[in-house]
Amino acid sequence: MTWLITGGAGYIGAHVVHALRAAGERAVVYDDLSTGVAARVPSGVELVVGSTLDRALLDRTLAAHAITGIVHLAAKKQVGESVEQPLRYYRENVEGLRVLLEAVTAAGVHSFVFSSSAAVYGMPSTAREGGLVTEDTPCVPMSPYGETKLAGEWLVRATGRATGLRTASLRYFNVAGAASPELADTGVLNIVPMVFERLTAGEAPRIFGDDYATPDGTCVRDYIHVADLAEAHVAAAQRLAGAAAGTDLTLNIGRGVGVSVREMIDLINEETGYDRAPLVTPRRPGDPDQVVASADRIATELGWTAKRDVREMVRSAWAGWTASSTAVRK
Ligand SMILES: NC(=O)c1ccc[n+]([C@@H]2O[C@H](COP(=O)([O-])OP(=O)(O)OC[C@H]3O[C@@H](n4cnc5c(N)ncnc54)[C@H](O)[C@@H]3O)[C@@H](O)[C@H]2O)c1
Repeated sequence: MTWLITGGAGYIGAHVVHALRAAGERAVVYDDLSTGVAARVPSGVELVVGSTLDRALLDRTLAAHAITGIVHLAAKKQVGESVEQPLRYYRENVEGLRVLLEAVTAAGVHSFVFSSSAAVYGMPSTAREGGLVTEDTPCVPMSPYGETKLAGEWLVRATGRATGLRTASLRYFNVAGAASPELADTGVLNIVPMVFERLTAGEAPRIFGDDYATPDGTCVRDYIHVADLAEAHVAAAQRLAGAAAGTDLTLNIGRGVGVSVREMIDLINEETGYDRAPLVTPRRPGDPDQVVASADRIATELGWTAKRDVREMVRSAWAGWTASSTAVRK
C-alpha cells in the first residue's frame, strides 16, 4: 500500500510517517504547514504542501502517487481557539475532511484511518463501566473542537457504508513524549510542555483545582506515548489493508492507566532535576475529574497495547525540549 499522511509534518503525523516507514510501508505527506514543520518529514518521503480544502491538488496527488490508503491527521486542535473560532474549526476539520473524502471516493482509495480524540466524550459518565471510558460511552463533546471530531467520525463511517471504504476512527487520549528529540511537540498546549515552560522560566507549575473527586484531588488522565500511538496507526492501517469492504472500527488509544496532575508534576520535577512545589489555582471550567480509556477493544481488534510508561514520555519530551530550547517555538 502507499499511504498519504495528511498532517504528516505535525507532531503526531511525523511519528506516524516514521512508524509506517519502519514497518515497510510507502508514505507521502500532505500538509499545509500551518502548524507543521517541513523538517520533520524524513528524507525520501515526498512532502506535498497544500490544504485538504484543495480538491484539485488532492486529485492530482492521489493519482500521481497511486495512493491506496489515507491516514488523516490534518486538523486544528486547540479547544479554546475552537470556542472563539468555531467556523474556522468546522471549515478545516469537517469541510476539509468532506472534500478529502470526496477525492478519496473518486480515486477509489481502499482504506482510511481518521485521527479522532477523547474530546468526543466530553465529560464522560463512566460509573457503569468501572470508571473507564469505553467506545460505547455516550459521546457528548463539550467544545466545537470535540464536535468536529465526532462529526468527522460520522462522515468517515457514512462514507464507508456507502462506498465500501475500510475505515478506522482512532480516539487518542492524552498524547506525550517523542520518539526522538527532533520529532518533539513544539507547542505548549499540553500538561508536559506547559510544566516545562513554567519550570524553565523559574515559575511554579500550576494545578487547576485540587478538590476533584479523585484520590489526590487533582484531575486524572490517561497519557499515551506518541511512539506507541504511531504504532497503533500502523496496526490499524495494516488491519484495514486486509479487511473486507466497509469494515468500520472505532477504537480508543490509551493505556488504561490513570495518572493525576500532581503525580505528573512530581514526575516532571524528578526527571528534569527541578524541585518546584506546584501552585494550586482555581479549577478551569469544563475539566472532568477523570478520563481514563478502556484499552480492551484495540487489544482485541488489533493486538496492540502500549509499551511505554509515563516516565519514558516525560524523559523523551524533556530531551526534545532541551534540544530545541534555542529554536523558535510555534
Ligand atoms: N496532540 C494531541 O494531544 C491530540 C489528541 C487527540 C487528537 N489529536 C489529533 O491528532 C491530529 C494531529 O495532531 P498534532 O498534535 O500532531 O497537531 P499538529 O498541529 O502538530 O499537526 C497537525 C498538522 O496538520 C496540518 N494541517 C492543519 N490543517 C490542515 C489542512 N486543512 N490541510 C492540510 N494540512 C493541515 C498542520 O500543518 C500540522 O502539520 C489532529 O487531528 C488532532 O486533532 C491530537
